[in-house]
Amino acid sequence: AGARPNPAALLAWYDRHRRRLPWRAEPGKRSDPYHVFLSEIMLQQTTVKAVGPYFGAFLARWPTVSHLSAAPLEEVLSAWAGLGYYARARNLHACAKAVVARHGGRFPRDEAALLDLPGIGPYTAAAIAAIAFDAKASPVDGNIERVVSRLYAVDTPLPKGKAAIKAHAAALTPHARPGDFAQAMMDLGATICTPKSPACSLCPWMAPCVARAQGDPARYPVKAPK
Ligand code: ADE
Repeated sequence: AGARPNPAALLAWYDRHRRRLPWRAEPGKRSDPYHVFLSEIMLQQTTVKAVGPYFGAFLARWPTVSHLSAAPLEEVLSAWAGLGYYARARNLHACAKAVVARHGGRFPRDEAALLDLPGIGPYTAAAIAAIAFDAKASPVDGNIERVVSRLYAVDTPLPKGKAAIKAHAAALTPHARPGDFAQAMMDLGATICTPKSPACSLCPWMAPCVARAQGDPARYPVKAPK
């Protein structure tokens, strides 16, 4: 450890090892904001594997945010059955209506305008801005929290340590390809920098990782005792 983690090294890793996911655009293309929105809401408390079929079914039935906004809430709730946490489906529908009413059916590019929409919090606003519009935004989900807390050996326990983690993530985000960078961090966390026994020897950021140098990366993220 010592050198600063190089964003370009992670992007090069992503170009080789990116996961093919139903909501992900082909390499070099931006994702449709509606696809990012729908997938991120579904992924909030549900695994990537479980979300796949629901994502496809929603898009087949409601191909655009305008279609979704015009659907009766009951139909959206019944299509959501099985994903759980129904508040997410209500918010999804309310948000679709707001995108149509306030923005003519097109998601705003601006993170602040996204944050203003019902059901969209800081994470989702940053994810849409980065992944759909390639804006320099830094979504921090559980995977990214783990990666960043290890890279910098953030000792402040969660939830308090989240502020330092977010600041590190923002400082690390490059001007080039911020959307791919966010998705690369997610993939690194899901496949290499896993909660238990991370595969450090395969990690593009093994050299700059402070937790790795300390010898016990799985100690991070540190959590406050319950
Ligand atoms: N988990 C949450 N959002 C994700 C995304 N866009 N890609 C992969 N995993 C995710």
